[in-house]
Amino acid sequence: KEEDASPLWEAYELAARYYHHLLMNTEQGKEAYDYLLNRGVTVEQMETFRLGYAPNQPRMLKELLEKREFDIEEMVDGGLLFRRESSWDIYDRFRHRIMFPIHNAKGKVKAFGGRSLGEQEPKYLNSPETSIFLKHESLYGIHLARGPIRKKNQAVLFEGYADVIAASGAGVTNGIAALGTALSERQVQWIRRNTDQVLLCYDGDEAGQKAAWKAGALFEKEKVNVQVALLPDKVDPDDYIRKHGSEKFKKDILNSSVSITSFKMKYLRKNKNLNNEGDKLAYVETVIKEIVKLPGAVEQDIYLRQLAEEFSLSLDALNEEKERLARTRQ
Ligand code: UTP
Ligand code: MN
Ligand code: MN
Ligand code: MN
Ligand code: MN
Repeated sequence: KEEDASPLWEAYELAARYYHHLLMNTEQGKEAYDYLLNRGVTVEQMETFRLGYAPNQPRMLKELLEKREFDIEEMVDGGLLFRRESSWDIYDRFRHRIMFPIHNAKGKVKAFGGRSLGEQEPKYLNSPETSIFLKHESLYGIHLARGPIRKKNQAVLFEGYADVIAASGAGVTNGIAALGTALSERQVQWIRRNTDQVLLCYDGDEAGQKAAWKAGALFEKEKVNVQVALLPDKVDPDDYIRKHGSEKFKKDILNSSVSITSFKMKYLRKNKNLNNEGDKLAYVETVIKEIVKLPGAVEQDIYLRQLAEEFSLSLDALNEEKERLARTRQ
């Protein structure tokens, strides 16, 4: 439960404004500004998402918070400042990072994701959980996307902050992202309250595909219709848009998405040698188990026919197998 009275709200708002100012208007922020421009982030996107820069100095935010008479202990607990155990000194948590404010649905800043400019690890440093920030009930971009999600009756779910921002430049205003952790039931329920259709647009690597599989299962449980957009291997939506442009992204990726069942069939086939009889039978069996779960007879029929054709099996035999598996499910 978010505590409306917490001084953290004001502190995070102040920090967001400060970081944004440094990025947009100062010499200190120039490296970050150029980095973002180089990545294809426009000034308009920097404004819309209120991107910022945390300076490469130990106590700039701390001094600002002191000047505004915030309780410094509270700011340590609230994750904006950081106490080094060995020395008991207090520093700014975020230094020399691009700052992505994380908002609640009402548009209030409650946390940050901070990306390193170079190769420093971790790539993204996120705020710790606090009295106003619980990761598993947060979604990046939610304050901007809620209206469009309702209007389009669809949410597009990405893996990364950068993907949400790049896609917004392609007109995808209904995009959101989880915060790097696996999708939670709470996040799924929030989405479910706003729409019953989701387009998963995860990174085109093994981790992304795995995550899409798991997310798909959560949405199916909540009776949300799931489509999956397929990215080339090792490419994420942000990379793709930069390389091929918005139009191709919309046409060849978003509008070429496949049903969750087709995605599963593809995924299960990957890395399998289906010339081997045993593997082939195991594959067919697994796919039929997925087909049995589908609510519509017509839908079931479509995938059974696909399967029959692909492996030159008789549709009757597949139907029989389907009936058998359907019985054992009850
Ligand atoms: P990715 O590694 O796919 O990052 O992680 P990305 O969004 O493509 O980042 P760029 O393009 O290199 O800048 C996806 C998401 O996982 C979380 C972040 O939310 C990120 O957007 N993440 C990733 C972390 O929290 N920490 C990390 O170190 C890395
Ligand atoms: Mn501005
Ligand atoms: Mn990834
Ligand atoms: Mn990525
Ligand atoms: Mn990326």
